[in-house]
Amino acid sequence: MDQYIIKGGNPLVGEVEIAGAKNAALAILAAAIMTDDTVLIENLPDVRDINVLLEAIAEIGAKVDRINRSTVRINGSTIQDISVDYEYIKKIRASYYLLGALLGKYKKAEVPLPGGCNIGSRPIDQHLKGFRALGAKVDIINGAIVAKADQLHGSHIFLDMVSVGATINIMMAASMAPGRTIIENAAREPHVVDVANLLNCMGANIKGAGTDVIRIKGVEKLHGTEYSIIPDQIEAGTFMFAAAATRGDIMVKNVIPKHLEATTAKLEEIGCEVEEFDDAVRVVASKRLRRTHVKTLPYPGYPTDMQPQIAVTLALAQGTSIVTESIFENRFKYADELARMGANIKVEGNTAIIDGVEKLSGARVSAPDLRAGAALVIAGLAAEGITIVDDIVYIQRGYENFEHKLRSLGAEIERVSSEKEIQKFKLRVG
Ligand code: UD1
Repeated sequence: MDQYIIKGGNPLVGEVEIAGAKNAALAILAAAIMTDDTVLIENLPDVRDINVLLEAIAEIGAKVDRINRSTVRINGSTIQDISVDYEYIKKIRASYYLLGALLGKYKKAEVPLPGGCNIGSRPIDQHLKGFRALGAKVDIINGAIVAKADQLHGSHIFLDMVSVGATINIMMAASMAPGRTIIENAAREPHVVDVANLLNCMGANIKGAGTDVIRIKGVEKLHGTEYSIIPDQIEAGTFMFAAAATRGDIMVKNVIPKHLEATTAKLEEIGCEVEEFDDAVRVVASKRLRRTHVKTLPYPGYPTDMQPQIAVTLALAQGTSIVTESIFENRFKYADELARMGANIKVEGNTAIIDGVEKLSGARVSAPDLRAGAALVIAGLAAEGITIVDDIVYIQRGYENFEHKLRSLGAEIERVSSEKEIQKFKLRVG
């Protein structure tokens, strides 16, 4: 099993290019099969989740032509199977987007029910409620969601909670459901807008994406297009916090600064300088940072996917901080690992109380999930001595070339898979 070995203590300095947004890409790839024409997608991140979804799409019969690591051509005219294999859904929950895409296009879909997840229970009742409102009969048969409709129709849907996945899934199916659909209490995340933009480029009629009311006029057919995915605001935010925690100076390039506002505001609040450019942000942390409170919320609030990264940074800040997680129930699994590095962090329910310490020290820790894994890498980069991060398979799900990008900023980090490689790294860094 691969691990990261890190010698911490270097401020990260330099420039880094951000890849396309993983969470937008997952939905966009699914949406691309909704036409029989070819859809060309650019700025695709080369990460494990994306590669698994492309395999799932090829498996149901679509033509998938990976032109290069960031570009793919998809043609859904050859799809023969509306049933997605459990092998894919167990690897990436977001293959549930194939449900909305297949249901919209073929009026039937069969996708295994995604299991629990290591950040807590993640029901998909709102997705199913939406499909039912559009006229589909939805049953759970042998662990799979089977959705079928003689004909879909537009509907007025009020989501019980703000859900990115449900908003996108319903939007996809509704774009090919005759009549008008209104989704109320819709998620406003940038990737919801990105998927709506793609669908509109394919001939859909979706208005209001980015607000909490999305209006869709169903069309009979979608057509091919070429589309470039937005930059990944979570990857960008991760590097912004890497600059903060290591007291570095990073120019984060190829971003949409507007999407990063919640992160930028918190960084400024704790004492970083953040400079915004048209498509870049520079984060400079020249002194010890100070405490703050933060609560995760749907966009435009502070993102849950950036919660572990800010917590690691606050572990080194002056004073007591409170981090409240309001989206997922079990997103503090990294706290014990961070404590092993010397952090003073106590979790009570959905709150972490962090008393900042002057220094963290390297330890062997384990990545409990994707974003917490990246945050532990940041902790290792900021800590004194050697840190080994186990289970980095989680990190590879969502960060393209993570260790290369960090090394280009001056980090001493290596991906290793044996004791011999660990010893070699230790000898090299002294
Ligand atoms: C997406 C992101 C994930 C991010 C999350 C919140 C992708 C692939 N993943 O996940 O990285 O952390 O948004 O920004 O884009 N809920 C229900 N019933 C439902 C749907 C959701 O109860 O039918 C609850 C969830 O348990 C959670 C909350 O609603 O508490 C928000 O979840 P949701 O926005 O749906 O997250 P995902 O789309 O799964």
